[in-house]
Amino acid sequence: TAGPDPAPGAGANLVIRDGRLAAVREGYERFDPRAYLQNNYVPPRADFSSEDCVVPWKLRCLAETFASGEGVEPWQEKERRLRGRLRRILPIDVHRPDPLGSPLRPPADALLSAFCLEAVSPDRATFARALGHVGSLLRPGGHAVLLGALGESFYLAGAARLPVVPLAEDDVRGALAGAGFVLRRFCSYAMPPALRTGVDDVDSVFFAHAQKPMEA
Ligand code: ADE
Repeated sequence: TAGPDPAPGAGANLVIRDGRLAAVREGYERFDPRAYLQNNYVPPRADFSSEDCVVPWKLRCLAETFASGEGVEPWQEKERRLRGRLRRILPIDVHRPDPLGSPLRPPADALLSAFCLEAVSPDRATFARALGHVGSLLRPGGHAVLLGALGESFYLAGAARLPVVPLAEDDVRGALAGAGFVLRRFCSYAMPPALRTGVDDVDSVFFAHAQKPMEA
């Protein structure tokens, strides 16, 4: 199923992809958000007494990136402005070339995705296409900030066992380049044995900050 989005009439390819995407969709019907949070966002993975723990690492990556913009305003002010700007939560289908169903006007300044694209993509080609689809929502010069799993084939969320495409660092770099991004920062965190708790089989967590080139 590698290659560009199939043209209407590329029948067999489309049916196989749709079948696997339907399986992904069914898996998420059993997804238990409380169990997911329990697995990933409380100790031992979210132990704030240790800088070496994975959740403080994720938050540090995000804070450093968001603090690098203009302004030095305190976080409370950022939070107030962000909450004031939130208007709607929209459903999104990252597998559609037009993920929101209609073009975003004006296009977005920034896109943040955490542990999503690899967890809804049956293979690397689908992951790369999905990144291209969501990337198309950004304006020229817009920023993509991604957190995700490397080498993961599944994760648990209550009764749900969700399949994940196991990605290597080069898959993420290649997908970003293929979607027209310039990479600004890439780093990864090897999951230590003490945090391999059985809720997934992740090898490492990656952080990427990439930018769409300005229009010529
Ligand atoms: N943190 C949040 N979601 C995760 C996942 N699926 N694998 C590893 N770490 C995570």
